[in-house]
Amino acid sequence: MAERIDGMAMRAAILDETRAEAARLLEKHGRKPGLATILVGDNPASVSYVSLKVKTALALGFHEIQDNQPADVSEAALLARIEAYNRDPAVHGILVQLPLPPHINESRVIHAIDPDKDVDGFHPVNLGRLVIGGEAVRFSPCTPAGILEMLVRSGTPTCGAEVTIIGRSAIVGRPLSIMLGQKGVDATVTLVHSRSANIREHCRRADILVAAAGSPRMVKADWVRPGATVIDVGVNRVGVNPTTGKAILAGDVDFDAVAEVAGRITPVPGGVGPMTIAMLMKNTMRSAWLHAGERP
Ligand code: GUN
Repeated sequence: MAERIDGMAMRAAILDETRAEAARLLEKHGRKPGLATILVGDNPASVSYVSLKVKTALALGFHEIQDNQPADVSEAALLARIEAYNRDPAVHGILVQLPLPPHINESRVIHAIDPDKDVDGFHPVNLGRLVIGGEAVRFSPCTPAGILEMLVRSGTPTCGAEVTIIGRSAIVGRPLSIMLGQKGVDATVTLVHSRSANIREHCRRADILVAAAGSPRMVKADWVRPGATVIDVGVNRVGVNPTTGKAILAGDVDFDAVAEVAGRITPVPGGVGPMTIAMLMKNTMRSAWLHAGERP
């Protein structure tokens, strides 16, 4: 039976470390890490994600600016808000919750964020820095960064490991494939996608299998090498609990069957999800140190 990798416990540990760091920054430089979170409209999933981000930042002693804009805010007005945060020395991180309403060009919004305050790691400059690697890296996208952190903290070796990633999205699969191949991580990476041949064979070869395809329970037990570490990034709504009215979630992995074969596995919920917010806080902390002229 696989060991469960507990994302909630890991998040709590990272947040404790970040809270202590924020206190150190305050003592040394007399300032708090500053995070501006911009939410446009009232999409229920976005409202709930943003409120958790705000709550977490406040609990760490960050300076938090919650900027809620109506769904019909103009693109120009939104860009002006971002410009103001770019100039504000008390703000070290700017987060615009996605998706945005259709009348706003998402790419233009991401481009408007100062890359040195882009704690989501979505700006092309930061993705370019990630490809260069080493000292050039500024902010890694939060979900892939959370996955790397889970591998390290669970004691899963990456050096020389065969990793197969299912899914080539710009926020998870593709940046993760680059991060796992960096010097110091040193994995050998296979990135499979909807047009790949023999997906199952690529998965069966993996020491570490990352499922980020958005397809409920697609990874079956016979896709997994015995003893492999399985990281499930999927958050698929597969129904509604009739008593609570809450969504029933399933990952991209057929959890019960795969847990019989794998060495380690992340649950859904309670696996990768909680790590994403922890990494956002870590990126904001890192940005605050860099803005204070220190290399964290
Ligand atoms: N929407 C869903 N996930 C994310 C995220 O990580 N960052 C932002 N900005 N929006 C999101």
